[in-house]
Amino acid sequence: MFVACRTEELPPGESVRIHADVPVAVFNADGEYYAVDDTCTHQDASLSDGFLEGCFVECPLHAAFFDLRTGVPTCLPAKRPVRTHPVTVEDGLVYVHVAVPALE
Ligand code: FES
Repeated sequence: MFVACRTEELPPGESVRIHADVPVAVFNADGEYYAVDDTCTHQDASLSDGFLEGCFVECPLHAAFFDLRTGVPTCLPAKRPVRTHPVTVEDGLVYVHVAVPALE
């Protein structure tokens, strides 16, 4: 578990990239916090640079959409899910719980 940021540093509609065992993108989707591996599974775009729409993020390079709740892509060209990480908020801090090894 690590602290990603303070809640006021991540307002609704914004994202931040954190370096854990791999880069992790943390999103505030209308008050709900989500964390996924930052690197798109299609190529190497950074999902934290993507476009947030509800609880979905659009990859900035080729426009694949990922569901932040599951990591599953909802359209091509991405076919593989990104890894998701539980997020908790306590005392104004956003915590990311990286629990499983990165996918190869
Ligand atoms: S790099 Fe993300 S869709 Fe191509």
